[in-house]
Amino acid sequence: MASITARVPQVDWSKGFDRHWNDGNPAVTHAFNALSFIFPQGEQFFIQVVREASQKLEHDKYPELVKDVKAFITQESAHTYQHQQYNSQLEQQGYKNVVHNYMRRLQMQAHKRLSPLTKLALVSGYEHYTAILGNYLLNNPQMIDRADVDMALIWGWHSAEETEHKAVCFDLYKAMGGGWLRRILAFLFATIDFNIIYARLYMNLLRHDGCLKPVRLFKTLRQYFSFFYGRKGIMWHMIGYGFLYLSPGFHPWNNNNRALLNAWLSKNRPRLKEVNN
Ligand SMILES: [Fe+2]
Ligand SMILES: [Fe+2]
Repeated sequence: MASITARVPQVDWSKGFDRHWNDGNPAVTHAFNALSFIFPQGEQFFIQVVREASQKLEHDKYPELVKDVKAFITQESAHTYQHQQYNSQLEQQGYKNVVHNYMRRLQMQAHKRLSPLTKLALVSGYEHYTAILGNYLLNNPQMIDRADVDMALIWGWHSAEETEHKAVCFDLYKAMGGGWLRRILAFLFATIDFNIIYARLYMNLLRHDGCLKPVRLFKTLRQYFSFFYGRKGIMWHMIGYGFLYLSPGFHPWNNNNRALLNAWLSKNRPRLKEVNN
């Protein structure tokens, strides 16, 4: 397996960003903003679960996986930090993370009631979604190429690193003896949970921005359907790649998109600072 490198994107958050930073399109901007509100809390949970599970791994038997786990934690920590900066700008613009308490309660319940392996199955499922989203953006750079340059860098960087480490949780789960049924049940839960959380956040951002007022509703719906269900809409990508996870022979690198990842990295290398894992 190729090594995983953590990088810090060179972004000055103190400059802030436009309220509709993605091509002046509120419905698309908030589709990204809703994800950003989920990331720091979600990724901290991923780190806790992966750290806990990897302590039970036979380190001598899986030296490469141990290195990958370490790199995964470094990458996700950097994502958390950057999205915290991003989200504090959103809060300064008046938006609220309305799922914070819900996610906190859910994570506390997971820690209390689920085994390390079941939590890892859940995280592996969520990581499949972040890999799908990353693959979508790497394949469809037109979705951010008219955005604020710093925001395009943040989303491109996060997409690239989610792609780079997409197999870590899955491989750890397999190495710890995780089976198909638990993986699928956890994925179904992750699918429902992610959709509920995302829909609540997205609707709240749109409402707060006045996009659901009768005078703006038609335009919002047009932007929404075009982004989610248009010819290159993200939902077709999510559904198609989502189903692949159900196969007993699934592995994240069965979809080998490393060339796309490397192309994005070489184009953006000057704006990324590599860090030691
Ligand atoms: Fe991440
Ligand atoms: Fe990730």
